[in-house]
Amino acid sequence: MPHEAAASKLPLRQLGINLNHWYVVAQSKALSIQPLAVTLWHQPIVLYRDRTGTPIAVEDRCPHRQVKLSEGTVEGDNIACAYHGWQFAPDGSCAHVPYLEPQQKLPTCQLRQYPVQERDGFIWLFPGEAALADTVAPMGVSEWEHLNFIGSLTTIDVQAHYSFLIENLMDMYHGHLHGGAQVWANPVLAGLEADDTHVHAHYDAESYYRIDKIWSASQLIFPSLRQLHPEPLDVYYHYPHWRSTLGDDFVIYCLFCPVSETHTRAYLLHFTSLERFPKLHKTPLTVRRFVKRAFNNSASFVLRRLVREDVLMLEQEQQAFDQHPTYRGPELNRALTAVQQLIRQQAEGSGE
Ligand code: FES
Ligand SMILES: [Fe+2]
Repeated sequence: MPHEAAASKLPLRQLGINLNHWYVVAQSKALSIQPLAVTLWHQPIVLYRDRTGTPIAVEDRCPHRQVKLSEGTVEGDNIACAYHGWQFAPDGSCAHVPYLEPQQKLPTCQLRQYPVQERDGFIWLFPGEAALADTVAPMGVSEWEHLNFIGSLTTIDVQAHYSFLIENLMDMYHGHLHGGAQVWANPVLAGLEADDTHVHAHYDAESYYRIDKIWSASQLIFPSLRQLHPEPLDVYYHYPHWRSTLGDDFVIYCLFCPVSETHTRAYLLHFTSLERFPKLHKTPLTVRRFVKRAFNNSASFVLRRLVREDVLMLEQEQQAFDQHPTYRGPELNRALTAVQQLIRQQAEGSGE
């Protein structure tokens, strides 16, 4: 990973990440007492739950012979290596060796332990300086549990640098790619704010959907029910994650897990608001929970199509960059220049 001086010389598409942030490494529901291997910016990490259900994250490399601990099992609160069965406690210390001789002491080897927390349906991990973890708040997804929001989720797994993905998400002028599957149309960049932690681009736009009737969901299936009307479209790069709102009806997130310079994983979350249904809010909690569950993931098939179309473009951008690393195409969207600046500032300020 680049040092500060070296980072400033690197092309944008080869920059590292600022490790001193909370990244999303898994969905909560994927984590159990089975070890789960994840990679966050070149770091192999094994996740599991201890006996109380608390997530644990340690380096995925047995200090004995360097095999992957994620091949092993969870024993109580410890993780046991598959090879010789050494066990490691949640703090990363060696807790047990099955064949220790009476005169031998436990080896003092120590696995790296990562700050990790479970929040809003996801496992958030802090890969930087552990002492700083408490000083930085994870982004949070308040709509995840909120009964007035119906969620849909899909994952993104793209063989491209994370900068290509965030630029795609901030660039509302790429609706051309998605044809009828896009929720918004006719964006015009009307405002741009940026500092060293975020970029906010405001577009005047139009939306095809209006969520004000109980049968509004049928607009997903019948395009003739959709009617364009003006709505503000706001996109935010809250480094390292993305959030967007389209009027009052939709909130979308993209939670990042950059794997390497040419591989990015992310979670795309779409929420439809039920704020315009005051009668629904007066129904018993059980009914509201039922509605949230019943419509859960109803927009996932649209998200998957959008992601498929975007991934094709992003991977072509990466391949073209690999072939022509010094080529710079003209960029007409000012929001992207601000995004690129923020990526560079964060990468250079990371101390990595
Ligand atoms: S390699 Fe892990 S216990 Fe030996
Ligand atoms: Fe897109």
